This record gives sequence, C-alpha cells and structure tokens, in this order.
Amino acid sequence: MIGAVARKLFGSANERRIRSYLPRVGEINALEKELEALSDDALKARTVDFKKQAADGTSLDDLLVPAFATVREAAKRTLGQRHFDVQLIGGMILHDGKIAEMKTGEGKTLVATLPVYLNAISGRGVHVVTVNDYLAKRDADWMGQIYNFLGLSVGVIVHGLDDEQRKKAYDCDITYGTNNELGFDYLRDNMKYRLEDMVQRGHIYAIVDEVDSILVDEARTPLIISGPLDDRSEFYNTIDGYIPQLDKTDYEVDEKQRTVTLTEAGMEKLEQRLRAAGQLKGDSLYDVENVSVVHHVNQALRAHKLFQRDKDYIVRNGEVVIIDEFTGRMMPGRRYSEGLHQALEAKEHQPIQPENQTLASITFQNYFRMYEKLAGMTGTALTEADEFMDIYGLEVLEVPTNMPLVRLDDDDEVYRTATSRAGSSTISPIPMRSPRSIRATTAPPRPRCSPSSMPGITSRKPTLFHKPACPARSRLPPTWPGAGPTFSLAAMPTCASARKLPISRIRASARKVHAPTRFASRLRG
Ligand SMILES: Nc1ncnc2c1ncn2[C@@H]1O[C@H](COP(=O)(O)OP(=O)(O)OP(=O)(O)O)[C@@H](O)[C@H]1O
Ligand SMILES: [Mg+2]
Repeated sequence: MIGAVARKLFGSANERRIRSYLPRVGEINALEKELEALSDDALKARTVDFKKQAADGTSLDDLLVPAFATVREAAKRTLGQRHFDVQLIGGMILHDGKIAEMKTGEGKTLVATLPVYLNAISGRGVHVVTVNDYLAKRDADWMGQIYNFLGLSVGVIVHGLDDEQRKKAYDCDITYGTNNELGFDYLRDNMKYRLEDMVQRGHIYAIVDEVDSILVDEARTPLIISGPLDDRSEFYNTIDGYIPQLDKTDYEVDEKQRTVTLTEAGMEKLEQRLRAAGQLKGDSLYDVENVSVVHHVNQALRAHKLFQRDKDYIVRNGEVVIIDEFTGRMMPGRRYSEGLHQALEAKEHQPIQPENQTLASITFQNYFRMYEKLAGMTGTALTEADEFMDIYGLEVLEVPTNMPLVRLDDDDEVYRTATSRAGSSTISPIPMRSPRSIRATTAPPRPRCSPSSMPGITSRKPTLFHKPACPARSRLPPTWPGAGPTFSLAAMPTCASARKLPISRIRASARKVHAPTRFASRLRG
C-alpha cells in the first residue's frame, strides 16, 4: 500500500533511474545546432581530439555528452537517421555496463553506436556480440558507415576466417562477432605457444545483443576444443589378446550396472601375463603406473562379456556402429568414451581410431565474465533481471518506447494438452502483417490466429504476435517470409520452439505483467 503511494508520488525505481539520464540528454540536444554547422572533416576531427583528451586523462564519462552528440550528427549524415532521445538513454545505460531493455524495433542496433564509439576512443577495443554471422556482418556494414565516417576502424569476425584475418579484425577499434566465434577464438588463443600468434588483444568492453539468449539461455553451453590422442592401436590389441586367456573365475559381471571387474585370481593371472610380456611397470599391477592398464583391461572385458555384436553394435565398413538400445537405430558417428569403443574395435579386429580428449573448454557465462565492462540489450530482459544480477552483476533498465506502443504484447500461455488448448478459443487463421509494416500504422486491427498452427504453446487471446520480442524472428534475414506485406503465423518460429525456452522461463514470462508505461508518455510529453 505504502509502496503504491510512494510509486505514485516518486515513480517506480526504473522511472527514477531513467529520469536521472535526462539532464545529459538535454546537454546532447543543446550541442546539435553547433555540430550541424561543422563540415564533415571538422566532425571527423573531433574523434582525434577525443582520443587526445582520453590519452591526457579525461574520463570517458566526461566525454560522453560531446561524443554522443558527434555520433548522432554522423548518423544523420551517413544513414539519415537521428538518434531519438530514448535511444540516447539506451546508449548511456549500455555505457554504464547495464542491460537496456528496449522493445523490438526500437533501433537497438543504432543505440549501440553511441557507447561503442565512446568506448572505442580509449583504443583498447570494443566487441559487439550478435547471435549469428548474418547479424554480425549486417550490423558491422550498416553501422560501420558511422564509425568509418568518424575515422574509426571496424572489423567483423565470422565463420571461416584464418588467423591473420581474425587478428586484423580484433585489432580494429570496433569488432562485431558472434558469441561462438569470440569464445572459440579465446580457446584457440589459449592453446597457442607464442603471444604474437594470439588473435584477441583483451576483453575490455562488450555489448551483447539479444543478451537474454546469450547470457541466460546459453549461459552454461560449453565450448569445447578436442583433439585426438596418440595412436595406441598396438596397446588395445595387446590388451584384447589377454581376454580369451581369462576364465569365469577371473572376473565378475554385473549386468545391472553394466560393469565387469577382475577378481583377485584374475588380477594375479593378468599380472603374471603382463610381467612375462614385459608390459608391467613396477612390481605390481596395483602400482599407480599400471592404473591405465587395469582400466583398459576392464574396458576390454566389458567389450567381450557385456556387448553383443548385432545387438548392441554392428560392424559396417570397418567401423563399429552403436545401436541405440531404446530405438534400435544405428548411431553412426557416435562413439563410446574412455577407450570402450577402441576395445570393441580391437575385439572385432577392425581398424582402431584414436581417442579424443578435451583440450580446452569454457562456458559462455565464464567467457563473458572476463570482460572488464559488460553491457547488453534485448527486447525481453526484465523477466530474467534476478539472474542477470546474480550471475553477472548486471542491472536491467527498461527504456520507454519512442512512440506510444500500439502493438499488443500478450503474455505466453502454456497448455498441458492439445485438447485443453483447442478448447480455449475458436479462432480462425487470417493473414498477418509484418512487424515493420504494423509499426507504421496508427491503429492496427486485432488480427486472429490459428491455435492449431503452434504446437504446444499458443496464446488464448487473439494476438498480433505470439511474443513480439522473439529474437529468433529478429535474426532472420530481410528475405524471410515475414518481410513481405502479409504472412501467416504458421510461418513464424515461436520463441519457445526456436530458442528451446525452458519451461521455467515460459512460466516466468507468463507471470510478467505488461503495465502500460505511463512514464513513457510523460517523458515524451
Ligand atoms: N533513430 C531512428 N530513426 C529512423 N529509423 C530508425 C531509428 N532507429 C532505428 N530505426 C530503424 O528501425 C528499424 C529497426 O531497428 P533495429 O533492427 O535496430 O531494431 P531492434 O531494436 O534491434 O529490433 P529487434 O529487437 O527486432 O532486434 C530499422 O529499420 C532502423 O533503421
Ligand atoms: Mg536487433
């Protein structure tokens, strides 16, 4: 109750935070006339001047107002787009190392240019992270016009570049790239022996686009570089040769646990054989040096005593192919780990392929926590605000839209069965317009959609979009079906299916209440 009254009087915490940025918006606007009068060369020269000031000790915060004003003027001259006031606020949030939640289509790509330019002035490298190669290239080319105009270099890291090209891109003032590429470059750099071979030059400041997708949904995804171990075919064949020499008293089979272990008698017999063959290191089989031998004997025993040819696996074209025990299907390319597959290959007298080992591994969470300053932008972050704060110490601020939002952002609704979903409404499919064309209209009609077009998850109320800020949709290139004048909902990927949204997040977003942002109109008014 008291909270509600306080909110009415002073506004919500988010409103207060956003309001604190307004004085600087006013200062940037005040510089506009002066900058408009400058020639292109004089505008460009401001970058050199900012760099000098930064080198002389002026903080980036002190350069924010003139730098943002410069970027806005450059955007007007190159792209014909003038950053809206709310976009300036978004830019300041990103510069502060926070997450700016801005609705889809609010121009986050352009917003990023402000903090990117400001932080690039330090010359230590700024990374802009996107979810796919297409967006990295598109944004680097598109926004690169502004940076190049102002005399900054832009590089892009996409799949298929060699080390030299990567190094060149990382050495630029600004580098666009995908989370995968940046993460793998870090891992590969860690496996290099010489400093000069490394392609990255530090992790200073990163702005992550679609931040919820990269820093929450994929946070724990490990990036792994693996490599083959030395060829040890001879070793596997030798071990395999001992198995027929063992009798039933030498080992115990546990069908339930799917393990086979040597008995005392078996151990002794094996020890004798290994000693006779000169393969025993030290005095006893129990010495540390022989741990690997015992392990591989156990694997060979499993291969012989538990795994049946044409039931658990088949042999085809010199390869041992696993059969899925549940579906009965072959699983070509899949291999048992820890030497078991090699033991099967030895048993079947097939060529033995080398084992793989993990050489380097990192999760996205750990990679992005290395940056000195991290910021992010997305259409939907508030639902994960706690996770962002707990894991990354990132605060989420909701930036009001530039114009009143006419789009209806209904919440996700989850049904347990198709029947309960079908019974929830009687709605028939009609063509829908694309997000961009809807934005241009003032009063869009309330379209209807077919619940049967969305497997599992749909909206009970007829909605304009299933979830407007779905990153999967915004990742599509301009030629996607929705870019035309009409498209059907069935053609669009749903947030949940496209991003494999865990059910907890669907519930979280279903709980989210979209209150009309009165503050937005106050800001505009
Ligand atoms: N200040 C501006 N003036 C004119 N057009 C703008 C401005 N800012 C952005 N736009 C245009 O709005 C469109 C949407 O921009 P953008 O794709 O960057 O949005 P977004 O917020 O990243 O959306 P999504 O959440 O779907 O990724 C683009 O065509 C862009 O050119
Ligand atoms: Mg975007």
